[in-house]
Amino acid sequence: MLIKRDKWLQYRIFRSRPSLAGRLPQTQLLKKNTLSKMLLQYQSVVLKPRNGSYGRDIVFIKRNGANAYRIHNEQNAVTMRDTDKILKWLRKKNSTHGYIVQRRLQLAQIGHKPFDIRIITQRKKDSSSPWNVTGSYAKVAAQGYLVTNVTSRTIPVLEALNLARIGDRSLLVKAERIALLAAKRLGERYPKLRQVGFDIGIDRKHRIWIIEGNYQPDLRPFRLLKDSSMQRRISWYKKH
Ligand SMILES: Nc1ncnc2c1ncn2[C@@H]1O[C@H](COP(=O)(O)OP(=O)(O)O)[C@@H](O)[C@H]1O
Ligand SMILES: [Mg+2]
Repeated sequence: MLIKRDKWLQYRIFRSRPSLAGRLPQTQLLKKNTLSKMLLQYQSVVLKPRNGSYGRDIVFIKRNGANAYRIHNEQNAVTMRDTDKILKWLRKKNSTHGYIVQRRLQLAQIGHKPFDIRIITQRKKDSSSPWNVTGSYAKVAAQGYLVTNVTSRTIPVLEALNLARIGDRSLLVKAERIALLAAKRLGERYPKLRQVGFDIGIDRKHRIWIIEGNYQPDLRPFRLLKDSSMQRRISWYKKH
């Protein structure tokens, strides 16, 4: 089944659950006033196309003194003086599609590269069957990138937590629990949904955040892991 990718809709679905609301970085639909407001509230924000972009059209903005903003997109960075200029530039770059503006998380890093984790949740064909975590890995951003879609490395989550010195299995278990709650919420909304691949961020204070849930997650990275048990479990769930 195909569900339209819509980050704004998904944010609102999650936000309606108190147990999930605190796991979401504050988000608004991008408008002139929401951008200004968020940039007053936070030092850094992220602009993302509502319908997803595999990391490409994501823009990071950092307040830089009173009248300057540092704009970071892919490997490029420029400085702009006001939010009007930012919005104009964005319209030129990326047609008219809607954007969201989101508080930027200070993601945990491995060797100065941010990383986040992908957690796959699945359930069997019968929509009354429970959601399970069937796989996970960590995505480390490539040199110079702030998004992890362009990765330099795909490694087991426990290895990433260890390399970043931010936690151990108990942190992974906690992240998995949050992914399961989020999967459950999406499953209520979409009864035919059977798999969700979550991007889960862990910030430098070890707090866990839901970045997004993907309805068509890329499963190829599991082939890169030495341990093939997750790949087998994921395939099993797809068939049952
Ligand atoms: N609020 C944020 N703070 C810090 N990094 C973020 C934030 N949102 C996204 N990212 C980074 O950008 C990547 C892509 O964002 P995501 O919301 O997953 O969009 P896409 O649909 O392009 O995959 C994330 O995996 C994460 O590495
Ligand atoms: Mg993503």
